[in-house]
Amino acid sequence: MTTGKYVVFDGMDGSGKGTQIKLLQEKLSGSVVFTREPGGTPFAEEIRKIVRDNPLAGKSTALNNFLLFWAAREELLQNLITPTLQSGRHVFSDRGDSSTYAFQLCGEQNMELLDLFISVRNHMFYRPHRRPPDLYVIFDLSAEVARERVMQDANRETNHFDGRDLAYYERVRRGFHKFAEHQPVAFIDARRTPEEVHQLVRVALAVKAGIPVP
Ligand code: TYD
Repeated sequence: MTTGKYVVFDGMDGSGKGTQIKLLQEKLSGSVVFTREPGGTPFAEEIRKIVRDNPLAGKSTALNNFLLFWAAREELLQNLITPTLQSGRHVFSDRGDSSTYAFQLCGEQNMELLDLFISVRNHMFYRPHRRPPDLYVIFDLSAEVARERVMQDANRETNHFDGRDLAYYERVRRGFHKFAEHQPVAFIDARRTPEEVHQLVRVALAVKAGIPVP
């Protein structure tokens, strides 16, 4: 049976990921199902409101936040990603477990959760009918530029993840690089213009996932 491909788009806040996903949506919305994390199903969107939007989440424990992101992911995998892939369509997700690794473990310095990360990840992705992402497209950018872009974006919706210092951004960036040592990742140079970045994404999708973008 031919299944679709599962591609995650990720990167630091300020990396231009949202703009790139919109460009892909304009071209591929007929053949690809677009979703996002945390969220993407009615229940996962409820979890998003807690973990992303509720300031109480910022005051809760690292373990609780970590588990909530995984809870939203399990819901999305079960009810949207797996059936879509089985139907032969591709899924493009705005963020994925690469974010949990980069933000919760590396950015927020909770490396004691690494064993748990590996075992929850294995449980969620390696069981019947499940599989891990085929490709992570990561928009890469220096911590300075990413933070500067976030600070200058007046239209950006703020949440309790905002207002972090430069060292945090650096840890997150290193986190994405570390994650990439073990996973199928295409790094995209996000300093370039949106059109240039789009061309790099097209090449990565064609070469590394076999998905042509018109
Ligand atoms: P969102 O406004 O969707 O950010 P963006 O447009 O940059 O993707 O909010 C999602 C936030 O949640 C973002 O700051 C990253 C964070 N996040 C984690 O910390 N861990 C995770 O596992 C995921 C999926 C997201």
